[in-house]
Amino acid sequence: MKNAVEITKKIMCLTVKEGSVVVDCTVGNGKDTLHLAKLVGDSGRVYGFDIQQAAIDITKNSLEKESLLDRVILINDGHEKIDKYIDEELDFIIYNLGYLPKGDKRIITEASTTLESVKKALQLLKSNGLLLITSYTGHEGGKEEYKSLFTFFKSLDQKKYSVLEFSFINQKNNPPILFGLEKI
Ligand SMILES: C[S@@+](CC[C@H](N)C(=O)[O-])C[C@H]1O[C@@H](n2cnc3c(N)ncnc32)[C@H](O)[C@@H]1O
Repeated sequence: MKNAVEITKKIMCLTVKEGSVVVDCTVGNGKDTLHLAKLVGDSGRVYGFDIQQAAIDITKNSLEKESLLDRVILINDGHEKIDKYIDEELDFIIYNLGYLPKGDKRIITEASTTLESVKKALQLLKSNGLLLITSYTGHEGGKEEYKSLFTFFKSLDQKKYSVLEFSFINQKNNPPILFGLEKI
């Protein structure tokens, strides 16, 4: 439980089942996409969004190496257009915000498009489906993005959604904050 990546991975393993339909809204180097592709099995489907062609290419490569590309739809476009590409109910949605570590730190997720995407993603989420977002506040624009998500999640009707915020209260240097939302 020492970082957000480990926690999201554990939750993913508990939630995503054979046959699940899931989305990785920030593919990056494809670690989450690859993991999801294994969990959904032959009968499931993974959608993956990233605005960087390089991220899509790297991920396609790693999926091909493990013969998992057949169950993954990689989309080189912004996750705020999720409704343009997905027309089915989703079991699980994950976002890892900010910039790609070891990548171009100027290419970051933005408060307005992240919020637009999350609002649309909630419409596609199944009842009992789960949405996880790891939010970073240490870079420029990160705090604003976190605050806009916090305000939006806080405003949701508790009869329709259950939202948790996890934070590492004894870690230095702006540790990531994880939101977990379940649709009731
Ligand atoms: C923190 S990284 C994701 C890391 C990834 N989960 C992994 O396992 O490597 C964030 C990614 O979001 C992407 N991104 C930024 N804005 C986006 C948008 N509007 N839609 C989709 N992806 C976006 C960036 O290109 C970057 O690759």
